[in-house]
Amino acid sequence: MSETSSPSDRRDGFVWGVSTSSYQIEGAAHEDGRGASIWDTYCRQAGRVANGDTGDVACDHYHRYREDIALMRDLGVGAYRFSIAWPRVLPHGRGRTNEAGLAFYDRLVDELLAAGIEPWLCLYHWDLPQDLDDLGGWTVRDCAGWFADYAALVARRYGDRVRRFATFNEPSVFTLFGYGLGGNAPGITDPGLLVRAVHHVNLGHGAAVDVLRALAPAASIGAIHNWQPFLPSRDTEDDKAAAERFATYWNQAFADPQQLACYPAALASAFEPWQQPGDLARICRPVDWFGLNHYSPIYARADPKSALGFGFGEAPADVERTGIGWPIHPEAFHDTLLAVHRRYRLPIYVLENGFGANEELGPGGDVPDQPRIDYLAAYTAAMRSAIAAGADVRGYFVWSLLDNFEWSSGYGLRFGLVYVDYPTQRRVPKASFAWYARLISAPTS
Ligand code: FCB
Repeated sequence: MSETSSPSDRRDGFVWGVSTSSYQIEGAAHEDGRGASIWDTYCRQAGRVANGDTGDVACDHYHRYREDIALMRDLGVGAYRFSIAWPRVLPHGRGRTNEAGLAFYDRLVDELLAAGIEPWLCLYHWDLPQDLDDLGGWTVRDCAGWFADYAALVARRYGDRVRRFATFNEPSVFTLFGYGLGGNAPGITDPGLLVRAVHHVNLGHGAAVDVLRALAPAASIGAIHNWQPFLPSRDTEDDKAAAERFATYWNQAFADPQQLACYPAALASAFEPWQQPGDLARICRPVDWFGLNHYSPIYARADPKSALGFGFGEAPADVERTGIGWPIHPEAFHDTLLAVHRRYRLPIYVLENGFGANEELGPGGDVPDQPRIDYLAAYTAAMRSAIAAGADVRGYFVWSLLDNFEWSSGYGLRFGLVYVDYPTQRRVPKASFAWYARLISAPTS
């Protein structure tokens, strides 16, 4: 329960890893008894996902996990963060379990351990079982209990071999875009339902922490939050207010109640109708670390057409950007690490940071990706300087091992250290793969 060292920790105690998620890489969407998730449904709705892409095949990791673990071994990472597809192990979200699905994660975990790579298991990376969504999904309070029952199944099955558990990945992203702003499954844009979903996810987090503690006593538990500085797109009062409100939802609507037992003051009254006595104590359960995802600062603007009154704005034209247009600003990462450290006082694991581009295989069959290397070098340097300034950062995971299904952007955006040639499923390590291997084989100072 306390933060002691584990197999993925190097001699110097720092964990280097890579991250993925179930729907983005597994494929095998209709195999071995897997039930449907809200992303299977969403991908089939016209106009939702670029090119009509789906996760049906993705990186075919369900069949190629051995090859992918061999790549990780070559890379030299000490840890691999993945997520379980809830509908693969509970096809209807609750009730009957699916042995074939459970056995897949047995094989995955065992193969990782045999390769000397520590599994970091995330319970929820956005693929809610469709049957639960049909009952209201996160907009109903019962969903927190369904999630806790699923957590119990996972803890009982894997708790003997897995020590690191995360409850949710980026709850602010999947609720804001799934229930408020649009752009993610299940595709609802209703501020009233958003608030309910946020509260029920928070309850699900607290309930799952309790279940994991009870059933996997050696577990080291956290949740994975994104935290970004928000900047007004234009120098107007409207955009400044929009940036502030967006930031409060994004950075604090989950981390504050989970760690500080309160909703941010600016949002608190919205949650009141859905709270029952004792809820904040149910949500704020002791965890062992803070999982942080960070890519860039966010430029926000007032948007009267959005259900929430705010949305994404343009960054100034002279801002340096990644291949897919995200602002590059390592100092914002440095400041975020210190801000999170001071606010929550937990060991931090950076569980996602990475660079998106639209790369193609080079003529020689290689994938030169110097801009990704430059980005990762600048961001890991910013992390080191935050550590030197006192931030308690214990690990860093690149998003992602493989190019994969990038949600509503489909397969066009590539974040992998390994290129995936989707028609053949051939994996081609990019130049950044060798660069990261060199970085992590050197002791962290
Ligand atoms: C994060 C998600 C992850 C991936 C990266 C690029 O918001 O957690 O699944 O899509 O962004």
